[in-house]
Amino acid sequence: MGASATEQSRPLPARETVLEVEGLHTRFELDDGVVHAVNGVDLAIGRGEVLAVVGESGCGKSVMARSVLRLVDRPGRITAGHIRVRTDDGTADMVTADPRTVRSVRGNRVAMVFQEPMSSMSPMHTLGNQIGEAIRLHEPVTKAEARRRTVELLGRVGIPAPARRVDEYPFQMSGGMLQRVMIAMALACGPQLLIADEPTTALDVTTQAQILDLLRSLQQETGMAVMLITHDLGVAARMADRVAVMYLGTVVEEGPLDDVFRAPRHPYTKALLRSVPRLGSGSRERLKPVRGMVPHAYRRPAGCPFHPRCDAFMPGRCDVTRPTPVRAADRPGAVSCLLYEEEDPA
Ligand SMILES: Nc1ncnc2c1ncn2[C@@H]1O[C@H](COP(=O)(O)OP(=O)(O)OP(=O)(O)O)[C@@H](O)[C@H]1O
Ligand code: SF4
Ligand SMILES: [Mg+2]
Repeated sequence: MGASATEQSRPLPARETVLEVEGLHTRFELDDGVVHAVNGVDLAIGRGEVLAVVGESGCGKSVMARSVLRLVDRPGRITAGHIRVRTDDGTADMVTADPRTVRSVRGNRVAMVFQEPMSSMSPMHTLGNQIGEAIRLHEPVTKAEARRRTVELLGRVGIPAPARRVDEYPFQMSGGMLQRVMIAMALACGPQLLIADEPTTALDVTTQAQILDLLRSLQQETGMAVMLITHDLGVAARMADRVAVMYLGTVVEEGPLDDVFRAPRHPYTKALLRSVPRLGSGSRERLKPVRGMVPHAYRRPAGCPFHPRCDAFMPGRCDVTRPTPVRAADRPGAVSCLLYEEEDPA
């Protein structure tokens, strides 16, 4: 770590790729054992694309997202892999980037919105001060200009009477309004990628729908890419162009939304989809939760991480061999399951 990011990283493959994560491992070495929170994640996001990252609680979605911005809490540590972000002069690898590059990516390229807006706002400063600061970190503008832009941004994210509310403090706002403020703050740097980690989970259903609509329309207006992390498959279905399904720190299936949700291939994706009510099916449909429990964080199963819960488990294979991503000839995307092993490796 600490070496110049641009030297060590190779260019991003497709011209339009804004983020490529390859072989990412992030772990927590604790007194009782090691938590392999992210255990070999591969994924990419194209310009203007909305990628939903879905999976049960504890599968590593947040740690993966925080790794992208090098915001993993101690004692968490990235131990392997690449996180390539497009920059003006090429590509930065966030895994090896020096602190200046990391700050520049955070300030100019990739922004993040968290589930709990208060966790990333200061209760002591007005909205105007906080968003104004974010703007001034990104561009050398006067305080007056930063304030003018803050009012404009607050209006854009649907805050009523922005010229007045710019002088209010976070505690004076409702949860939904605060989440809008967080989005305004994230937009202040004109990001090419917005990572939104469960941005609506803490909100009521109506406010949740409004915030998702806002995110979608801002995404279309600005052309930024969005990584939307959610455990809610309904939210993913509504928002995403592509989906990545995570289980125990790895992406087990990814592809266009329609392919993954209408014709899932991985047994875990199938089980997840069976566990949510289908639209229009009424409330009488019997839901089947995914069988078994997510294993304890310290005890990773050998072979395929999903094997203790899998209906298609093949003894002697699935508990021995770790599947790698394979691509089908007839559709985009990839799946990591030994049932598809004879297809071309991705
Ligand atoms: N600060 C930490 N210290 C130790 N372990 C951690 C820490 N943060 C996360 N973990 C562990 O890393 C694993 C992945 O956690 P993560 O928060 O990324 O899951 P998630 O998919 O975001 O879940 P959720 O849907 O509940 O938000 C879990 O086993 C979690 O306990
Ligand atoms: S590799 Fe085996 S255990 Fe894992 S998902 Fe595929 S069939 Fe199930
Ligand atoms: Mg999380």
